[in-house]
Amino acid sequence: MNIAVFGTGMVARAIGPALASQGHSVIYGTRNPADTLTRTAPGPFGGPPFSEWHKTQPDALLGTFADAAEHAALIVNATSGSGSLPALEQAGQHRLDGKILIDIANPLDFSNGFPPSLSVCNTDSLAERIQRAYPGLKVVKALNTLTAALMVNPAALSGDHVIFMSGNDAAAKVQVASLLQQAFGWKAHNIIDLGDVSTARGTEMLLPLWVRLYASLQTPMFNFSLVRQSEAS
Ligand SMILES: NC(=O)c1ccc[n+]([C@@H]2O[C@H](COP(=O)([O-])OP(=O)(O)OC[C@H]3O[C@@H](n4cnc5c(N)ncnc54)[C@H](OP(=O)(O)O)[C@@H]3O)[C@@H](O)[C@H]2O)c1
Repeated sequence: MNIAVFGTGMVARAIGPALASQGHSVIYGTRNPADTLTRTAPGPFGGPPFSEWHKTQPDALLGTFADAAEHAALIVNATSGSGSLPALEQAGQHRLDGKILIDIANPLDFSNGFPPSLSVCNTDSLAERIQRAYPGLKVVKALNTLTAALMVNPAALSGDHVIFMSGNDAAAKVQVASLLQQAFGWKAHNIIDLGDVSTARGTEMLLPLWVRLYASLQTPMFNFSLVRQSEAS
């Protein structure tokens, strides 16, 4: 499948190669490809600049958000929370209509330092804002509650641990769940469909807890697990 990964940060650098390794054709979207390829400053969280990473992935295609969306059957949103709507606007509605968007972004606001606050919460969410702005897009919120390395390698943690999906289009969620299983190794019973896109409020609001756990555990390599009462008990 032709897949556009919007973003050039650590999520895009985890998701893109994992999809490409499964035979998908991946193109990364960025604001200005020439700038992104020549930027030498580290990323916002201290990671290497995209140009350094690109040397290790010489076949990785990079274009504008519009270039990336043009031939994509599915789009992954791995832009910052504040950059998500601008990135989609740059892609253009006619290149988005009818496509699935796996929305991994979180509306984190670091303007007052750590811990970040949420720029939208309680009665709305970033996923809903995207869905309202682009009614023709099939938004499926997923993978936003764990670190990038675990998104594409759940087996790095032993035992069952879960991810969540939110979206209005049932068929799109089935397709995304299938991709997450086939490309990244998620087990079907560990992909929890929460319901319509408004349920993304809950998973985006997990982030304040997630960042505090990160600070407390001093590692991002953890995830949430559900313990349910068994039918027999
Ligand atoms: N890092 C993780 O492990 C993790 C885990 C779960 C969820 N998330 C969420 O996933 C998303 C990506 O995270 P990340 O750490 O990979 O990268 P990030 O630093 O949060 O975002 C980087 C991307 O955002 C784009 N961007 C920033 N401002 C923009 C604007 N005004 N207009 C358009 N695009 C803009 C950048 O575009 P350029 O390429 O043009 O610079 C870049 O590609 C975030 O929303 C984050 O909250 C991250």
